[in-house]
Amino acid sequence: MGKTIVCPCHDVTVEDIRATHAAGYTHPETLKRATAAFMGPCQGKHCAGAVMALLRELTGGRDAPVTRRPTARPPLRPVALGLLAAAAEAEAAEAAASGTGGDVRTGGA
Ligand code: FES
Repeated sequence: MGKTIVCPCHDVTVEDIRATHAAGYTHPETLKRATAAFMGPCQGKHCAGAVMALLRELTGGRDAPVTRRPTARPPLRPVALGLLAAAAEAEAAEAAASGTGGDVRTGGA
């Protein structure tokens, strides 16, 4: 039988989820930490449905935590680093122009 990938960001397969669940990682948060599913650049946008459905199947829908996917961490969407750098530079320029602050990048005065 071939590999069925449920989390393309981290190449997590159905078998990885089953094995991790069998090893005792039955809560979505612990399963996330053990497999890295939900932790890729998409923050689980592409895999959450499949992983949670598989987890519900493995628990028979008995465990309440299985109804909730793991906590997402910001940024909720991918953000280009250049965009963040431009925002920091604009903030620094604004602070310098108004004379209210120093360099926000270094925290200096
Ligand atoms: S597909 Fe799983 S984190 Fe992106």
